[in-house]
Amino acid sequence: MAKGKVLLVLYEGGSHAKEVPALLGCLENELGIRKFVEDNGYELVTTSDKDPEPTSQVDKELADAEIVITTPFFPAYITKTRIAKAPNLKIAITAGVGSDHVDLNAANERKITVTEVTGSNVVSVAEHVIMTILVLIRNFVPAHLQAIGDQWDIAGAAKQEYDLEDKVISTVGAGRIGFRVLERLIAFNPKKLYYYDYQELPAEAIQKLNDVSKILNGRDNIVERVESLEEMVSKSDVVTINCPLHEKSKGLFNKELISKMKKGSYLVNTARGAICIEQDVADAVNSGHIAGYGGDVWFPQPAPKTHPWRSMKNDFGGGNAMTPHVSGTSLDAQARYAAGVKDILKEYFAGTHNYRPQDVIVIDGDYATKAYGQRNKK
Ligand code: NAI
Repeated sequence: MAKGKVLLVLYEGGSHAKEVPALLGCLENELGIRKFVEDNGYELVTTSDKDPEPTSQVDKELADAEIVITTPFFPAYITKTRIAKAPNLKIAITAGVGSDHVDLNAANERKITVTEVTGSNVVSVAEHVIMTILVLIRNFVPAHLQAIGDQWDIAGAAKQEYDLEDKVISTVGAGRIGFRVLERLIAFNPKKLYYYDYQELPAEAIQKLNDVSKILNGRDNIVERVESLEEMVSKSDVVTINCPLHEKSKGLFNKELISKMKKGSYLVNTARGAICIEQDVADAVNSGHIAGYGGDVWFPQPAPKTHPWRSMKNDFGGGNAMTPHVSGTSLDAQARYAAGVKDILKEYFAGTHNYRPQDVIVIDGDYATKAYGQRNKK
């Protein structure tokens, strides 16, 4: 008789799972935790059947699960109604970073702990952000399509191709990912880097960026914190979103805010799809108000075939740098978040619950992090 049930929800790897055993984040390879879970006397149940609620396998298995583990890439949405039907659920573990797929307020009401593997893929995402900015600003996709389509129309590709150097770039959220994006951008000799965040970066962090900019580019005081998001987006050539999804960031980039963005600028979002209103973004790209949008996050996931971000493009046929949700799931990242999940389970199974503080999102009925919105502590 098992002590309890661990429900693990992952995307299917199919033949890729066999070809590349390092794809730990897929259903077949189970984050490499089966033996560990079973050695600790727990039952491990895995599934990729997560939708729709309430008829999926996830709904059935949650009825008596004690632990649920899922990823942001293929999230089992742990909604208020699912939580209400999971009386034994004690902890939800995110294999990765970003736990908005769990209704955190409902988890608090039930005193369910929510943890993630903080930091496990922040470099992976920061690299993807830089890549996406370059793909957009260099007009890579139309040029690449020419290359593989036996075409050679230099003017057609170059008519919307710019340099990143000397541009104004800004981030909404300057936490682990946002800061790493700023760090990497210095190498491109930007004119100015702005950040908008209710948590101020430490003075030493700003100093480090400014010092590197001075040495590399001869530019002083490159980084500036701004109080007004509207003002920041109106001055930026590129805006990147790097904050969690919560009540205050949901739908933040709507028609109104996007209308304040500089004409011909670019928006990059690897944070969460629901931070942007999907049709408002698609309209802004299709109408040419912004020159492009890119990222890897959607809502819901997997994105429906009809999602407007699949087909949006600017007047010149470019401006779409979307991928499926892959930025935080490089093979390097998978190894890190699989190890991090095991560390969290170790603490849970031992009954010590001595998790790394940075991994804990909610515990004992309250938020343990300041990243999911400004809140008045109880
Ligand atoms: P973090 O907790 O280190 O930093 C988040 C920052 O955002 C904090 O400084 C917080 O104060 C700020 N913030 C929160 N709400 C804000 C708002 N409304 N406006 C401005 N700033 C706000 O988190 P980290 O590691 O940088 O990750 C950020 C998010 O990126 C995650 O929550 C997740 O949604 C997303 N992510 C996406 C991945 C992917 O594969 N695409 C992988 C990892 C994270």
